[in-house]
Amino acid sequence: MATRTQGRSSNRSSSSSRSGSRNDRSSESRSAFSWGGSSAAPVLGAALAGVAIGLAANFGRKALMQGMEAAVGDWDEILAAEHDMALAIFDKMLATDATQTFKRKMLLMKLTHALDKHAHHEEMVVYPALREAGIKVEADQLELEHGEVKTFLYELNKIGPEAPNWLEKVREFRALISRHAHMEEEEIFPSFKQDLSEEQDAEITSLVNRDGFWMA
Ligand SMILES: [Fe+2]
Ligand SMILES: [Fe+2]
Repeated sequence: MATRTQGRSSNRSSSSSRSGSRNDRSSESRSAFSWGGSSAAPVLGAALAGVAIGLAANFGRKALMQGMEAAVGDWDEILAAEHDMALAIFDKMLATDATQTFKRKMLLMKLTHALDKHAHHEEMVVYPALREAGIKVEADQLELEHGEVKTFLYELNKIGPEAPNWLEKVREFRALISRHAHMEEEEIFPSFKQDLSEEQDAEITSLVNRDGFWMA
């Protein structure tokens, strides 16, 4: 072994160089398809770590948001709290003047997010449960009104915060939401809830919370 190695010593340098070059190529080609052993690996690793941290942070944020919401109580209390929150945003919008265009834009974004999340809870969980219980006409009517809500959001975005009729539009919009929320909180939800068993009630709360987690 030693003799053979020694006998080829004169060629070792070039051989080793060729071998090294083969190894380099091998390492390069490996790096394109493997997670380690290449100069790209730290970058890729850092990117993946960044994604993982981002996902964990987002997951934590969602858990926190949902934990806050779940602390409110049953599904109907969660929805009522969301109605109150939306109405409070409307009141802030109505307290602005035409010079506060940035504030108006921010409040409209906040309102859009709040109403979107709220509508998702109702359309994906509560209204189907109402229909299942035979309260179909009312559920369909409520869902139709959610379409009107989207139209108001569209119109407010379209006219812009500096429009002279912005406040008037917001006032009309608030009246729709207030009427709709009142119908849900005072009539439709209580009459539905009173016929639910404790298990059914808890199931709807759990589904609303689960839906809220992904929407948070
Ligand atoms: Fe609704
Ligand atoms: Fe609602």
